Amino acid sequence: MSEPRDKPLTLWGGRFTGAPAEIMRIINASIEVDRRLFAEDIAGSRAHTSMLVAQGIIPPAAGNAILSGLDTVEAEIAAGTFRFDPALEDIHTHVEARLHELIGEPAGRLHTARSRNDQVATDFRLWVRTALDRLDGEIMALQCALLDKAAAHAETIMPGYTHLQVAQPVTLGHHLMAYVEMLARDRGRARDCRTRLNESPLGAGALAGTAFPIDRFATATALGFAGPARNSLDAVSDRDFAIEYLSVAALCAMHLSRLADEIILWSSPAFTFIRLSDAFTTGSSMLPQKRNPDAAELVRAKAGGILGALTGLLAVMKGLPLSYAKDMQEDKPPVFAAADGLALSLAAMAGMITDMTPDEAALRRAAGAGHATATDLADWLVRRLGMAFRPAHEITGRIVRLADARGCALEALSLADLRAIEPGITEEVYAVLGVENSVRSRTSLGGTAPERVREAIAEARQRCLSQPKLG
Ligand code: ARG
Repeated sequence: MSEPRDKPLTLWGGRFTGAPAEIMRIINASIEVDRRLFAEDIAGSRAHTSMLVAQGIIPPAAGNAILSGLDTVEAEIAAGTFRFDPALEDIHTHVEARLHELIGEPAGRLHTARSRNDQVATDFRLWVRTALDRLDGEIMALQCALLDKAAAHAETIMPGYTHLQVAQPVTLGHHLMAYVEMLARDRGRARDCRTRLNESPLGAGALAGTAFPIDRFATATALGFAGPARNSLDAVSDRDFAIEYLSVAALCAMHLSRLADEIILWSSPAFTFIRLSDAFTTGSSMLPQKRNPDAAELVRAKAGGILGALTGLLAVMKGLPLSYAKDMQEDKPPVFAAADGLALSLAAMAGMITDMTPDEAALRRAAGAGHATATDLADWLVRRLGMAFRPAHEITGRIVRLADARGCALEALSLADLRAIEPGITEEVYAVLGVENSVRSRTSLGGTAPERVREAIAEARQRCLSQPKLG
């Protein structure tokens, strides 16, 4: 038997005589990933230490030595002077090993009444909680960019689409506000997720609780949790907080991918609805004329990775028996990758929205093509001639067919042409055939009339900015 090491290489070496195979060490190690949990790990250890002292489980002198040692470790990691050693398994081992170097014997008391199972579950919840708080602010920044652009274009007319076919004219402001609403729901989901995850696993031990007289309320409160998680088996083995975070992220990324796709379409030569500046486009190494919307394409693609992170973690967790299993170590890479991808996507999207210059003439022209006011004509027949909507729809269809045959817009047909199809039509009908009038008439709640859009912007601005800050 060798002497106990003063610097433990593992937190579990006592019953082992042989060393792990190199490949065992490599597959087991998580330090390259979980080093991102260092601040949370140290916060958890501080709360745990203070509680152990308060409960008389470790002597105050040991507690003080641990707390000041943790300060040093944290400062070293934050300053980048801390030496990460690939031979030390994870962040928990690193912090404790360094604590041993710094303070010696009392470091061995830190892990009393604690397991890495409740420790990592606590660290990770804290990390995801901070990620949710950050996400709320990042989404709000994009909402602000959209609100500003929408306000500048509350009256800018563009074609509204269904099936990517011109359907009815809308305003660009109205279109952009649709995304503000989606993002508001994303923020709501993030808040719901935060509320559900905010329970402390610390004190659940390896799986069964502990015989030490710990105070789980004290550690929960110290870490900003609403209270302790109620079941120790669940506390160490639940990862649905991470899965829920990923589903919040995946939904938000899906929304961003739709907006990204519209930016890609709109900036293409086929549409020319918007122009992105050099700041958000790239060139081609072979085709000198190209201005590619790469940032938008990457946002569109990153949604795929984030969705993959969600399904990946669901697949890792599916079918795992209670309680902890090392499978769960694979929970962090998808969450970290999704958080990074989403933060980048949101920032790039806010940048593109602010950067883009709509081509109002092109938008207006496109709104005028495709008989976007055909519904207005049918509605006029209903309102003015007292027709039922079905025959009005049929007559309008015949008029559209005539305009197509002539290769002209509805308002370019002569009154005689219109009356040949429906004798009741009068000169007045031309007022509803223009896209401006069409848009102005859509005054129903949630409609595209500029006055409604301006109200919606003011209301949303108030709603989005008045959310209490998380964290
Ligand atoms: N690195 C581990 C994880 O992320 C920490 C918990 C290890 N627990 C254990 N009993 N091996 O899940």
